Amino acid sequence: QPFPDFPADFLWGAASAAYQVEGAVDEDGRGRSVWDTFTAEPGRVAGGDTGAVATDHYHRYREDVALLRDLGVGAYRFSIAWPRIVPDGKGAVNVKGLDFYDRLVDELCAAGIAPAATLFHWDTPQALEDDGGWIGRDIVHHFADYATAVGERLGDRVRMWMPLNEPVVVTMFGYALGNHAPGRALGFEALPAVHHQLLGHGLATQALRAAGCSNIGIASNHGPVWPASDADADVTAAETYTTLVNWLFSDPLLRGRYPVDELAEAMPGPVAEDLKVISTPLDFFGVNYYQPTVVGAASATDGPSPVVEGALLPPGLPFEPRPVVGYQTTDFGWPVVPEGLRETVSMFADRYREDLPPLYITESGCSYHDPDPVDGRVPDQARIDYHDAHLRALAEAIADGIDVRGYFAWSITDNFEWAAGYAERFGLVHIDYATLKRTPKDSYHWFQELIGKQAG
Ligand code: FCB
Repeated sequence: QPFPDFPADFLWGAASAAYQVEGAVDEDGRGRSVWDTFTAEPGRVAGGDTGAVATDHYHRYREDVALLRDLGVGAYRFSIAWPRIVPDGKGAVNVKGLDFYDRLVDELCAAGIAPAATLFHWDTPQALEDDGGWIGRDIVHHFADYATAVGERLGDRVRMWMPLNEPVVVTMFGYALGNHAPGRALGFEALPAVHHQLLGHGLATQALRAAGCSNIGIASNHGPVWPASDADADVTAAETYTTLVNWLFSDPLLRGRYPVDELAEAMPGPVAEDLKVISTPLDFFGVNYYQPTVVGAASATDGPSPVVEGALLPPGLPFEPRPVVGYQTTDFGWPVVPEGLRETVSMFADRYREDLPPLYITESGCSYHDPDPVDGRVPDQARIDYHDAHLRALAEAIADGIDVRGYFAWSITDNFEWAAGYAERFGLVHIDYATLKRTPKDSYHWFQELIGKQAG
């Protein structure tokens, strides 16, 4: 099948996040984040890896922007490290932190690449976490103040804004299960983190607009939830699960309400008033897609709880994840399900209809344990196949009439993959962590050709 034509103005992009690439954790007045703390605790991250050096993007951003330019992308999605801008989470702004992103943004503009900035890609200032982090309410105002500082400095050049990245992952892994920073295992007591992230998002959106910024959305992780069988119990379990991982986040943003009353009632503070802020209209909605989930009713065993991404699920849940069978998996063990991307955007179009702003795929990608470069080449056909298949599935969704305006590959380079450390490689560009040398993989060259053809 020939590769489909995307709309002429379709945005081709690549993505990254501050803690995963920057390194330089003690430079230019940066404060500590929860990920500095978490990675310093023994046993938290595979191999004891930390983001202290990462890909050294803080010092090598010019080289990385040159790679993006040669790739031909129209936009680069990066995140701003809150603890660089406001080292204590609240109070004084660190001008040197803003200066770094100012240089990065200028470099991107000079390369003809639209800067697309995420404000919070998981690196909460440790000082705010010490006061409860996203479980408490005060953080939402500090987040809005941080958004103002960034918006005032960069709003004239940044072309897309995403206050949050994947609040579901912060809630589930950071606060409910504890396999990500800040490593809390609160179970359902983590629900306030949902409400406060969403409220922070609404306030930050308003703060950015007040600072003159436009084109504001979110990057939110979504995927279909498939019942393990047709049995009523499994179907109900899958519905419960999709409510918790999908609609709990998007309904408040796009409809101004929680998907079910019990969840609204579980949230702290003046929820009805907060929902008006949370549903501040967005200019776009960014979907990060990786995989579907299969869920069944909890089985009545006394055996150990299921493990998800290294975290033990709390006992007594009404559902349990089951393996996704019948698909190849990446080297990270994630099933490769391109039609799940089409299904994801379709389920958004069906649920929200005219309330749905234009969609972007703000992340899509795969980890394969690529070989080291030989003569400057890294053959990674599996990654090419992955993006090829996901883009074809996306093209079908667009042909169905769904307004999807861009695709950001995760990630431009290999980087620090959170609890999995450096062993997982998502990049189009290989990083040699001993020398920090960058080597474009075959997938980079494939993307380059694709973008060239689509644009030409
Ligand atoms: C997403 C994160 C991103 C990256 C990819 C693989 O959940 O947003 O930082 O780690 O997964």
